[in-house]
Amino acid sequence: MGQGVLTGPFPRVGGTVHCGEVSAEDLAERFGTPLYVYDLAWIRGRVALFHAAFAGVDHLLAYSVKANGNLSILRELHALGCGADITSGGELFRAIRAGMSPDRIVFAGVGKTWEEIEAALDHGILAFNVESRAELERIAEVARGLGVRARFGVRVNPDVLAPTPHRYTATGHAATKFGVPWTETRELYAWALEQEHLAPVGIDVHIGSQIVDPDPYVRALDRVLELAGELRQMGVGLEYLDIGGGFGISYDDGPGLDIALLASRVVPRVAEAGLRLLLEPGRSLVGDAGVLLTRVQYLKRSEEKTFVIVDGGMSELIRPSHYGGYHEIQLVTSPEGRKAQTVDVVGPICETGDFLALDRTMEMPAAGDLLAVRTSGAYGFAMASNYNGRRRPAEVLVDGRDVRLARRRETYDDLIRGEA
Ligand code: LLP
Repeated sequence: MGQGVLTGPFPRVGGTVHCGEVSAEDLAERFGTPLYVYDLAWIRGRVALFHAAFAGVDHLLAYSVKANGNLSILRELHALGCGADITSGGELFRAIRAGMSPDRIVFAGVGKTWEEIEAALDHGILAFNVESRAELERIAEVARGLGVRARFGVRVNPDVLAPTPHRYTATGHAATKFGVPWTETRELYAWALEQEHLAPVGIDVHIGSQIVDPDPYVRALDRVLELAGELRQMGVGLEYLDIGGGFGISYDDGPGLDIALLASRVVPRVAEAGLRLLLEPGRSLVGDAGVLLTRVQYLKRSEEKTFVIVDGGMSELIRPSHYGGYHEIQLVTSPEGRKAQTVDVVGPICETGDFLALDRTMEMPAAGDLLAVRTSGAYGFAMASNYNGRRRPAEVLVDGRDVRLARRRETYDDLIRGEA
């Protein structure tokens, strides 16, 4: 199978969905369901696409670990030259364990604790992306205690409203908790310039998630570049400009963000400013490289609806119920003569909100069928929980014909670990 000619991951080969060269039926047989499966070759292709698009400027892909923090994936991304965008001490731990270099790690988030700041400084991360004055004061104090200078950039809130599919994933406008208000930014840098233990080296912006239009990025970038010019005049030794992540992918037939188009507008501007460009892609590197395989347990009909009850639900993939997220669902093997019907695909959790799809018209599954829930590589396992006593699923990495268990399925003992 020529990987090079595939236009999408998880193609149907001989009537059955495959990952790389391995049939999804075989993977489910071997590892059980529900099961997360990732196509490593596809992830490599995504990283290569970003590197090629942004080749015209010194850049760092700081992969957003929150999208999928599996160690094997982090290790692979590290090998491909990526760093990390982290948001907690736990993600720092993961990134370091995966062998990522601290000097390629940026740390964002509005609630960094003393311990988290200390750990990041101990490792010598590239920079903190700072979200408030109070946080920066704390960083300065921790740095003083350790006798180091903390490198940071301010995450500015550019007050750009980027259309995102759900209001929970918009961040770049003034009504969210993220970033420092535009009007307070200069003052904060000015204060920092006088602090012995602070080194202002960057400027950062992140406008939201699942954005498919380059325009809001360019609008935010232009505002930030103007600010960068002013900061330099104030004597700030800026090294990097971080445009965050949020690059949208295609969940249905609609287009994802055109990365080459985005780059064609971003690269010249940042190169001209003589800054290193940081990008924080999460979903756009791993999202469509993953599927959730789940098996149909029962069919059930009420007067109004037909339910396809599967063995994975909101505990495995919360995006449909939390954000109204759309995930295409396919029969892994599509037998002849199955008619299309409109169904709700629901999980076993005791919540009415436990569904993978509502009113979905699809080839009618039968009990025992295997379903592939597409585009689940980002914010799938990462948001999985043990609710209802569920054991989090296994994760498998496929590379061509090579199959690796990247995380074993949790056991009942895992469920009570740490309890008295
Ligand atoms: N950088 C920062 C500062 C972020 O807050 C995020 C995501 C990213 C980068 C990466 O965004 P991405 O490229 O993956 O879109 N759970 C939601 C998405 C939440 C995103 C939170 N921040 C979902 O499933 O759609």
